[in-house]
Amino acid sequence: MADQKKLLRALAGEVQDTPPIWMMRQAGRYLPEYRATRAQAGDFLSLCYNPELAAEVTLQPIRRYGFDAAILFADILLVPQALGADLWFVTGEGPRLSTITDQAGFDALKPVEAIHDTLNPVYDTVRILSRDLPDDTTLIGFAGAPWTVATYMIAGRGTPDQGPAHLLRETNEPLFAALIDRLTDATIEYLSCQIDAGAEVVKIFDSWAGSLNGAAFQTYAVEPCRRITAEIKARHPGIPVIGFPREAGPAYEGFARATGVDCVALDNSVDPAWAATHVQRDGCVQGNLKSSHMVTGGQALIDDTRRIVDAFSKGPHIFNLGHGITPDADPENVQLMIDTVRGA
Ligand code: CP3
Repeated sequence: MADQKKLLRALAGEVQDTPPIWMMRQAGRYLPEYRATRAQAGDFLSLCYNPELAAEVTLQPIRRYGFDAAILFADILLVPQALGADLWFVTGEGPRLSTITDQAGFDALKPVEAIHDTLNPVYDTVRILSRDLPDDTTLIGFAGAPWTVATYMIAGRGTPDQGPAHLLRETNEPLFAALIDRLTDATIEYLSCQIDAGAEVVKIFDSWAGSLNGAAFQTYAVEPCRRITAEIKARHPGIPVIGFPREAGPAYEGFARATGVDCVALDNSVDPAWAATHVQRDGCVQGNLKSSHMVTGGQALIDDTRRIVDAFSKGPHIFNLGHGITPDADPENVQLMIDTVRGA
């Protein structure tokens, strides 16, 4: 295969002796070097918008562990901010945003062309990374899926059941659909600029896809992902797309066919044996070790890691966690997972 990077080979459908590996939130608070750089930046958003320091934290887990891919350090909520929403992070609690609940709130959003004024530093981070990453490490860009980003814009924060977003969808669907459309267009432009700057793969995070079902899942999870993927592939032939409709359950089946993504990322509620039959038959899958093993370690980590590697060994697979690594994880357990996957 012309491109020798292990992660790109898996995305192209190659079955390998051992799968490539990276980890969601691999640059994060479980690493002392991340905490030091974050302190130097001041706060989380200042870190996201500082290209040198954002590139530094992206590189830290690559230096420490030699993962097969680096994921750009940024956040899915930078897009709402670039569209004009206020955004801040409350330590120990999470993100807060100004809310959109009516037409006036929507009308106050900036046009899609304006997002680059805010997001330019992110493209600079990508440029630095594409220069500084080791030759065999793939650079992944990303964005939130429109539904997931909309849930934060409507509620102004993370919510356990995405209630406010569902309420707006049910009571004012034209407004809700207009917001999804604006986010879909902004996401296409944002990912496209990441690719122009050097991202080799893009991933679409739909963390709250699991709370949509039936026709709503089709309209607000599948269709935006299909539109983003089609446009990215039209503008950038050959760039692979990873979709992550987290907690989609049975709707993982057929997601790649319906959206055109090259790889479906699986959360850890999915049985790997089921997914090998029902999802991997359409192409590459990514996942899906539960993050809590990074806290607890030991033989259970080893057994579960082997079970996942074995289940997916007959098709293209990228090893990953089922969701982001948590701040209380032990960095030594990450090494144990990598050694187990690579058979060391
Ligand atoms: O994975 C990586 O290493 C790349 C960077 C990345 C971050 N966030 C950095 C981050 C990525 C890909 C994201 C995606 C993201 N952000 C998602 C989708 C994936 C998922 O986790 O479901 C979502 C929903 C967000 C929004 C967000 N950002 C929340 C809800 C929070 C607070 C929760 C938390 O973990 O603290 C963040 C903050 C955030 N984004 C941190 C990091 C490293 C922690 C911030 C810190 O340093 O204090």
